[in-house]
Amino acid sequence: MSPPVRRLELQHPRGTTPIGIGAGAFDAMQSDLANWLLEKRAFVITSARILALHGDVLARWAPLASGGFEVLEIPDGESAKTLAVAGDLWNRLLAGGGKRDSRILAFGGGSVGDLAGFVAGAFLRGVEFAQVPTTLLAQVDAAIGGKTGVDLPLGKNTVGLFHHPRFVIADASVLATLPRAELREGLVEAIKMAALLDVELLSRIERDLPKLLDGDPEALGPVAAAAAAAKVAVVERDPEEAGERRLLNFGHTLGHALEAAGGYGTLRHGEAVAYGLLFALRLARGRGLAIEESERIRALLARLDLPPLPLNDVAFRPEALLALLARDKKATEEGLAWVLAERLGRGRIERIPSAEIAAELPRFLAAPWDFASPLQFRPRAL
Ligand code: GLY
Repeated sequence: MSPPVRRLELQHPRGTTPIGIGAGAFDAMQSDLANWLLEKRAFVITSARILALHGDVLARWAPLASGGFEVLEIPDGESAKTLAVAGDLWNRLLAGGGKRDSRILAFGGGSVGDLAGFVAGAFLRGVEFAQVPTTLLAQVDAAIGGKTGVDLPLGKNTVGLFHHPRFVIADASVLATLPRAELREGLVEAIKMAALLDVELLSRIERDLPKLLDGDPEALGPVAAAAAAAKVAVVERDPEEAGERRLLNFGHTLGHALEAAGGYGTLRHGEAVAYGLLFALRLARGRGLAIEESERIRALLARLDLPPLPLNDVAFRPEALLALLARDKKATEEGLAWVLAERLGRGRIERIPSAEIAAELPRFLAAPWDFASPLQFRPRAL
């Protein structure tokens, strides 16, 4: 029997976002969608690839809106998240009769959701939108919590706003068509959440990993739901990332630098974050994280069969990565704030001097998976 669709509710400063997540969410959330679309003009922001894979879902829903859906196609992937594409969408919304009470559906992965949310949040000073995430990464993380935005040439997500979706419909059935590399990157975000927030979820991922990597919706649904629930709890306590929400950046500090070093084309976001997690574990080991605990995450990441770091590429030399870290938008004179695991299920933020990072990074790049030996560390009381 299929696991039931889980319904979560995220309370945020502007209201409540219901989240239907699991295999069967499309049906379970249909009445929410019907009420929201009733007699409204509705636009769908999506890509040709998503339309080809899941256009049948939209065809089923289109009669719910007044005059059906107007589909606004954008390029696939991170390259669509630009001000130019956003500007084009605003023009197309106006030309298509978009009004303050029009509806926007973000139908696709994390990039579609980030861009569509930003476009909705700024159009006519804010129109309602809903997230229909079709990748694991978007279902466990990007579609939840109201972060939206686009990239500038000098940095990812550098222009954006908090704009929460009216609701989120995350059906695990669409995950069955995802390539393994996309499942893997979603799993990295789920592991990130599990390591710091939900050790039971970590055990489930360890147990079900082969099925998860095969895209089995029955295994993926509960993992996505548990990761989403962990994120909801954090976002409710810290909606605009003043404190605790920063824990969700676990693995992302070095991860973002690695992603940028590869020009956003060499390593996928989740792959870069996986290496970022390894580096953060290495830092945490030097500050008292028990070896069995760091080993547990390392072993799980090792089972993902990640592509190796392209270390022959000059962009991945320590000096190049340190320069990227120095440009991180969260850097201060005392160094960057790193998210560390204190133990499994508990994270914390620590500002680490850049000299220490500069010393550790070459050792990491020489052997990213090898940080178990306590001899490499200067243990320090927490
Ligand atoms: N993806 C991290 C956050 O939403 O805060």
